Amino acid sequence: MKKKDRILITGVAGFIGSKICKKLLSKNFIVFGVDDLSTGKNQVSRKIKFFKFDLSDYKNFKKLPKCDYILHLAGQSSGDVSFDDPVGDLKKNTISTLNLIKYGIKCKAKKIIYASSMSVYGDLKNKKYDENLEPKPKSCYGVSKLASENYLKIFSKKLNYITFRMFNVYGPGQDLNNLRQGMVSIYLAQAIKSKKIIVKGSFKRIRDFIYIDDVVDIWIKSLKKNINNETINLCTGKATSVKNLLILIKKLVPGTKIIKYRSTRGDQQNSVGDTKKLVKIFKHKFIPIEVGLNQFLKLI
Ligand SMILES: NC(=O)c1ccc[n+]([C@@H]2O[C@H](COP(=O)([O-])OP(=O)(O)OC[C@H]3O[C@@H](n4cnc5c(N)ncnc54)[C@H](O)[C@@H]3O)[C@@H](O)[C@H]2O)c1
Repeated sequence: MKKKDRILITGVAGFIGSKICKKLLSKNFIVFGVDDLSTGKNQVSRKIKFFKFDLSDYKNFKKLPKCDYILHLAGQSSGDVSFDDPVGDLKKNTISTLNLIKYGIKCKAKKIIYASSMSVYGDLKNKKYDENLEPKPKSCYGVSKLASENYLKIFSKKLNYITFRMFNVYGPGQDLNNLRQGMVSIYLAQAIKSKKIIVKGSFKRIRDFIYIDDVVDIWIKSLKKNINNETINLCTGKATSVKNLLILIKKLVPGTKIIKYRSTRGDQQNSVGDTKKLVKIFKHKFIPIEVGLNQFLKLI
């Protein structure tokens, strides 16, 4: 990768896209971005050329200049919302990806890096999910993410890809007003605002929480590494139960009460990722959940 390469970030006003943008700008890379601002509330840096449009309509791509790399983070990212509007979810997650593939091939981009999700796995019997397991998504969201992954594979002779199956990303920049997206931000927001957390589903559910800084580092390293056409879990491999997460949040926000509610549609019981492939390629040390949560609260 060269310093003069042009990097397109989709979902640049979102939680993860905005953080990656900031880091790339701090390293003097040439960045431009797209977002339709449907869920993204983060301020887009004035240092980049910004295009506000919906990626699911290819007509809009006329406005975009050529790029060398595509970091594709735009999408609808709530499993629950995907059941309300499966067609909308398909447009935002899959049609948008297909349009970007077409655009990437047209401008001979070197690589597209895709934000997929642990939701593609569904509930499998294995303790840890590795990339070779057969995915069995439980939500419309998981299905649309998996379809995008498969389209990337189909067109990989013309456009190199890396797919990151991200697990539960958390940290500053998450939208604390959106109570349908992001387990940590939903719980923290409720604890801070009302000292009351409504938990939808079992306390025994297991998650793999990864701090935003770790995610940003890996995405940026992946631009520089010579790896292509790989699907990689982006997670810590550490299991945290919902019960334990609540204990940690209660320590940070004393006096918080927990109220149990019925579970959300398509919610997974277990999702811990196998990190062998990730660690082999990136040799990364992860921020522990206790440290990440503390940092998150300080920066709210
Ligand atoms: N946050 C997580 O824990 C997590 C885990 C796994 C995968 N992901 C995936 O990573 C990506 C980024 O997640 P996030 O947490 O930053 O979500 P986010 O909602 O904060 O960001 C997504 C951004 O995409 C924009 N967008 C959505 N549809 C669009 C469209 N059709 N055209 C243009 N812009 C559009 C939204 O306005 C938003 O700014 C998403 O694709 C999500 O599915 C996130």
